[in-house]
Amino acid sequence: MSDLPTVIFPVAGLGTRMLPATKVVPKELLPVYDTPLLQFALQEALAAGARRLIFVSHPEKGAIEAFLRPADRLEATLAAKGKQDVLEAVREGRVPEDVEVIFVMQEEQLGLGHAVLCAAPHLLDGPVGVILPDDLILGTPCLAEMAAAFDPDRMGSLVAAQQVPRNRVSSYGIFDCDGGATGDVVTAARGFVEKPSPEKAPSNLAAVGRYILSSDVFGALRGVGRGAGGEIQLTDAIAAAGRVHAFRFSGKRHDCGCKDGMVEATLAVQSARRDRHLSMAAE
Ligand code: UTP
Repeated sequence: MSDLPTVIFPVAGLGTRMLPATKVVPKELLPVYDTPLLQFALQEALAAGARRLIFVSHPEKGAIEAFLRPADRLEATLAAKGKQDVLEAVREGRVPEDVEVIFVMQEEQLGLGHAVLCAAPHLLDGPVGVILPDDLILGTPCLAEMAAAFDPDRMGSLVAAQQVPRNRVSSYGIFDCDGGATGDVVTAARGFVEKPSPEKAPSNLAAVGRYILSSDVFGALRGVGRGAGGEIQLTDAIAAAGRVHAFRFSGKRHDCGCKDGMVEATLAVQSARRDRHLSMAAE
């Protein structure tokens, strides 16, 4: 497979770990050096061939809709002032005219699984991508890489996976699989254990914020009740749908849902920007 027609962005969360920064500004609009997290996520979805973008948001996060609106006046001002570099950076956050944007409100934060289910009435045919913008993956665009590896005949889902140290497993959904220690890019898994203790973790392969879901997962989401933390968990539905596969992506992931991860990501983007300037200067 290659293109993913629909990509869902669950962006309704409260972002409590980033307070007070997220008191007024949604977490997804916090800048990583010079670019909001949401702009990175948008570019990743477009690189995966998305034609419909579904944002599952919250009524108090109206700035997300504002950010995605065309900024014709701003762009004209920048062009008139000859600020070409900034103009290009702003244009990279534009949604192309032939790509649809749909907003769905999740009034109550009942969990990631519930947020994804809110998007279900709006899906195009075919497998569906999900991007959690606070998991920033730099380097090779992750969702496009996953779409190229997704085999709809063999897979119910494909979930981005990262090896984590044993003492960190309790922060993640951990794959229940035998291939955690091998170097395979795609590994079949039996399911997940949510936030296990290091002694009980079935592997050290953790699920991170990129998913490709078949229609089976949406069927399962309708049936799973509240799971860990009293929330409707996406991982429960993925496991219930079966044929779960883990995908080891080649980029570098930064957890921008927490303060230290945000600082690390900012330094990584600063360094990438500096390298780009140096290579442009050498041309
Ligand atoms: P998080 O677990 O990071 O929750 O959600 P959060 O509310 O954003 O942040 P903290 O933990 O309070 O700091 C992971 C992703 O799922 C979305 C979030 O917006 C984020 O992209 N989400 C979570 C929803 O859209 N709805 C929910 O009910 C829960």
